[in-house]
Amino acid sequence: MSLISRRTVLCGLASAAGLAAMPLRAAEATTLTARVSSAQLAPPGYAPTEVWSYDGGIPGPLIRARQGDRIVRRLQNDLPVPTSVHWHGIRIDNAMDGVADLTQAPAAPGESFDYDFAVPDAGTYWYHAHKNSFEQVARGLSGPLIVDEIDPPDVDRDEVLMLDDWLLNPEDGQFAQPFGHMMSLSHGGRLGNLLGTNGQFDMSLPVKSGERMRLRLINASNARIFVLNLTGLDGWTVALDGMPLDAPAPVESEIILAPAQRVDLIVDVTAADGDIAALLRFDDDDQWRPQVRMPVAGTATKAKRAAPSPLPPNPGMEIPGLKDARRLDMAMEGGAMGRMSGAMMNGNRMGFRQMAQQGQFWALAGQVGMTDTPFADLDRGETLRLKITNDTAFAHAMHLHGMHFRQVAEDGTLGPMRDTILSYPDEPLEIAFVAENPGKWLFHCHMLGHAASGMTTWINVT
Ligand code: C2O
Ligand code: CU
Repeated sequence: MSLISRRTVLCGLASAAGLAAMPLRAAEATTLTARVSSAQLAPPGYAPTEVWSYDGGIPGPLIRARQGDRIVRRLQNDLPVPTSVHWHGIRIDNAMDGVADLTQAPAAPGESFDYDFAVPDAGTYWYHAHKNSFEQVARGLSGPLIVDEIDPPDVDRDEVLMLDDWLLNPEDGQFAQPFGHMMSLSHGGRLGNLLGTNGQFDMSLPVKSGERMRLRLINASNARIFVLNLTGLDGWTVALDGMPLDAPAPVESEIILAPAQRVDLIVDVTAADGDIAALLRFDDDDQWRPQVRMPVAGTATKAKRAAPSPLPPNPGMEIPGLKDARRLDMAMEGGAMGRMSGAMMNGNRMGFRQMAQQGQFWALAGQVGMTDTPFADLDRGETLRLKITNDTAFAHAMHLHGMHFRQVAEDGTLGPMRDTILSYPDEPLEIAFVAENPGKWLFHCHMLGHAASGMTTWINVT
């Protein structure tokens, strides 16, 4: 049976009955072992895929803590290559940020690295490998990290949904290689031919009519921008990238979830007993298909509930000093169909063709990839306004480590706080943040192939 000849299967719709929802495994152990294992990513009947996993599962174990607690994990590296773990979105101690070759040396095969950090903010986060991420994350090295509010909202259920896509060879069900394919690096990134949730193709989540659920959506894919919607569900967005919105926003149109972004929804099941509610996904062929199907069995309540209250705010969500803030500009350039003639690479000016010969296609502020000196040296506590112009033909999911930022609209109003934002071609974007967290912090595109081929820089806060 070939994967590619069955487009309906590849697009996430199985004719077979849905698999039962497997609850995410809760992590109790204090060791997180990165190792080679196998997972049934493709539908039953296809061969299992050899993956790189945390503790043997896709996704990795659910790590859960209460706001203000510490998370302690020993990364045991049983992979054949060096690795490290980044705790995405946590306003963390710099030494624990897990960026190989910037904040730590990666753990060599057979070695371990001890992580121990506080979680100051409640919300939905995730963790993933941060050494050759474009390959290691694509092979499966990621998992959810949830920080519970001291006073969690009143819901019947709390569900973590980790959305991903995998690029598999149709013949043998194994990951297509190379991971850094020139074509994907210079275009939209590595896009999978099989889409799934919580490591399962065509996930099914049984629900009851009238139930109120908190859905924590995490985009763990390398490059896919998920366009999502709800059916049979009334929903409100209550948080983005872990950070609560001032007021829950009713879901009235598509939800755009770029790589690494998270959205917390509170949804009421409005579909009746026997119907099917769903989290829908918009596919390239202009069809809406279920990303997660929710067959309704039974009724929890018939009463219509009041809209949810906002989540309690996290500490330090204000951005003071916007008027007198330091201002910097960053142009994003390169890629296929781009206008770039060249950029600085390892201290030398390179033409685009020379860059491409070395597998590099992108530049941030005129620089290809990491530099010895940071893009910006910031004083702790100062506010930065960063203007980003996207002179490429692609959208990019720009992620700042260690701190969250807000978009500054043209009229000066501030958008929601987040750690990853989608920048569209020819749409200028300004973000602002307080440099409250000392250390060396990456700023990069979370289309991981882009990050590996030029779109990575860093700032220094002292
Ligand atoms: Cu989620 Cu630098 O990464
Ligand atoms: Cu990008």
